[in-house]
Amino acid sequence: MNDEKQNSILDAQEKLNLLTEFGKQIAHHNSLDTLLGLIAQQIQKIIGVKRCFIFIKDESRNEFWSKIASGKGLKYSEIHLPLNGNNIACAVAQSGHTINIADAYSDSRFSKELDIITGFKTTSLLAVPLRNKEGKVIGVFQLNNKEDNTPFNSRDEGLLKLLATLASGNIEIAALYEEVKLANLETIYRLAVAAEYRDQHDTRTHLAHISAMCEILAKKLGFSAGEVENIKNASLLHDIGKVAIPDHILLKPGKLTPQEYELMKEHTKYSEKILKGAKSKILETAYKMSVAHHEKWDGSGYPNGLKGEEIPIEARILAVADVFDALCMNRIYKRAWPLQKAYDYIVSKAGTDFDSKVVEVFKKEFPQILKLYEK
Ligand code: C2E
Ligand code: SIN
Ligand code: SIN
Ligand code: FE
Repeated sequence: MNDEKQNSILDAQEKLNLLTEFGKQIAHHNSLDTLLGLIAQQIQKIIGVKRCFIFIKDESRNEFWSKIASGKGLKYSEIHLPLNGNNIACAVAQSGHTINIADAYSDSRFSKELDIITGFKTTSLLAVPLRNKEGKVIGVFQLNNKEDNTPFNSRDEGLLKLLATLASGNIEIAALYEEVKLANLETIYRLAVAAEYRDQHDTRTHLAHISAMCEILAKKLGFSAGEVENIKNASLLHDIGKVAIPDHILLKPGKLTPQEYELMKEHTKYSEKILKGAKSKILETAYKMSVAHHEKWDGSGYPNGLKGEEIPIEARILAVADVFDALCMNRIYKRAWPLQKAYDYIVSKAGTDFDSKVVEVFKKEFPQILKLYEK
């Protein structure tokens, strides 16, 4: 091994090559999990280490978490540490300085906690702060044990600092994106609950069944992972228009008169008014699904009497999920059907009420769907 080279600070060309390669690898990932995984993988490759932790600071929870604890034989995927704990990550975050130790067990800042959890014996350790553009510490990169069992040298230190600088922007953006996405979903979920809670005793279960069924069906019909996620989440809002249906109809314990049923059918029109013109992908999908989920394949549905493929595929998927779940649950106007009877009903309506292609998938995936109802 060339010791000269090992110990030298990086030269400009070397830096540039690494920077370019690393930058290419981590660009365009807006899922935080994927991004952190890639960064950890790259760091392990570039520096040659056994363990790489990327601790992200979560001030609202007063903790560091590391999703990616990569390395051989690791069985868990997330670790949490208190922000003010006695460990290396906290020491680095608080001081803002790099920590490089050759023998961890003889250093008082080191806590065995992590080794105990991971069943790993740390010898050498290198940790650097991860800062945003304003210089605020947003996390810590921590490496344990080099592949060749030598202590970390100044070259490793320089490299890790460089990689931390390069990655911090991407990490911060991905974390913000995640937060916005979560906030969006939370809003949608609460809106959906508002729409359902009047006529459903167990809103949570009903929403969970429908979105899980939509997810299973969409996945097997060949939608991409992103589209599946979108359909799953958008399905939550399918009956949002029910907020405009008066209690004496929605909550009527018995069968609706034909006139009352006509008014009930207006819930799709109200959904249309609420969601029309929405710009986000998820609300756009929710619009399509909510307006058309009572259309039928043979054209006998409402509100527009659409036929066959005139009905958006997302709504054809939801129609199967919605009716199956409605049949299997108690409603104020009816008792729950046995699962087998509900299954037979869906199958009997393939090609009349429902898209046969969707019903085929429903049949194939029924064992998985049944599991939702066992819980
Ligand atoms: P929902 O309760 O969520 O039912 C959704 C769909 O599941 C219904 O759409 C229908 O296609 C199917 N479904 C539910 N229960 C049964 C059933 O016992 N037999 C059959 N064959 N299909 C069933 P639909 O009919 O367009 O109704 C839309 C919404 O109107 C229902 O949503 C419910 O909120 C309300 N609704 C329908 N009928 C009645 C009723 O007789 N009384 C009351 N109070 N509400 C009703
Ligand atoms: C798609 O529309 O993206 C594929 C699913 C289908 O058409 O069945
Ligand atoms: C109707 O009342 O005409 C249909 C409602 C239902 O099937 O539950
Ligand atoms: Fe509906």
